Amino acid sequence: MPAIEASGLCKVYRRPVRAPGIGGALRQLVRPRHEDITAVDGVDLRIEAGEAVGYVGPNGAGKSTTIKLLTGILRPSGGTVRVLGRDPHRERLANARDIAATFGANRSQLHWDLPLRESLALQRDIYGVPEARYRENLRLCADILGVDAFLGAPVRQLSQGQRVRAELTSALVHDPKILYLDEPTVGLDVAVKERLRAFLRDLHRGRGMTIVLTSHDLPDIEDVCERLIMIDRARILYDGSLREVRDRFARERVLRFQVRRPGEPAAEDVVAGCGPVAARWEGDALVVSFDRTLAAAAGVTAQVLQKLDVVDLHMDEAGIEDVVRRVYEGRLDLREAERP
Ligand SMILES: Nc1ncnc2c1ncn2[C@@H]1O[C@H](COP(=O)(O)OP(=O)(O)O)[C@@H](O)[C@H]1O
Ligand SMILES: [Mg+2]
Repeated sequence: MPAIEASGLCKVYRRPVRAPGIGGALRQLVRPRHEDITAVDGVDLRIEAGEAVGYVGPNGAGKSTTIKLLTGILRPSGGTVRVLGRDPHRERLANARDIAATFGANRSQLHWDLPLRESLALQRDIYGVPEARYRENLRLCADILGVDAFLGAPVRQLSQGQRVRAELTSALVHDPKILYLDEPTVGLDVAVKERLRAFLRDLHRGRGMTIVLTSHDLPDIEDVCERLIMIDRARILYDGSLREVRDRFARERVLRFQVRRPGEPAAEDVVAGCGPVAARWEGDALVVSFDRTLAAAAGVTAQVLQKLDVVDLHMDEAGIEDVVRRVYEGRLDLREAERP
């Protein structure tokens, strides 16, 4: 049985449309008018236990709505969804024991005025988590997320980064099988992001937790997930391995050698014999680009170092970010490209 299975999943929001002014308000009272917004349109998903899936898409694509349908917060307008064999909306209570979800730091489920430690202990009691297990979970969160530093502080006093970490700790108290994270890293500084990613990797690889992660920040996804699902305008554009996307569409690698005496010798002479690479002078740097499956950065670098007086070196890799941007700009169709 898959952990999550959805078929033809749809969600239509109904929003009142009101003409401006008092006239509009009165008309809305007499004859209310609505517009329908299809936020999720025929989504099919099958996620196995233990998978970590990145759910990516531009603003308004339908990511949060999908997560809310999977967690049972929203009822689908059409299609079916099963989570661990249950209907997550109809069987919300049973479902809630097996899952956890975080929706960013500003929609905290923690008690605002209680010290974090007490909020967590309350969760432990509600879910009847054995003390030893509770301590173990807390220790993991202390080790990697560093929450022990602010367990005694009321949640209202925590910084945004601390609150996200507190939120995640609280989500894990009851040992969920599935963890949904909706944009967990928005507004976090780099160091906290790193901790969060390390933590998620650990949960996934160490504990085999099923993770569904939405993010704008593609490095989050690359760090944690093996599988990528892209959604745009309520529909799924791509569902497959992240590695495959990277291997097929993000092969370009660019090395930038900053040198003491730029312009000499001719760029193509510097890289002669390195294989299929392109080189050009750009300001005080020799820029060499190549397909990383056809040439090796180490070989290119060794040769350039021999021929030039290099003072600095940068490497840019076309990330998944670039691929996703090309897909959303309509310059790359993964489905077309997928066909042999
Ligand atoms: N409660 C709501 N009522 C009406 N429309 C909504 C509501 N929530 C989201 N939407 C609309 O549904 C679409 C998808 O939103 P959402 O799932 O939040 O996308 P994402 O998380 O990918 O940014 C957007 O057009 C958004 O404006
Ligand atoms: Mg969202």
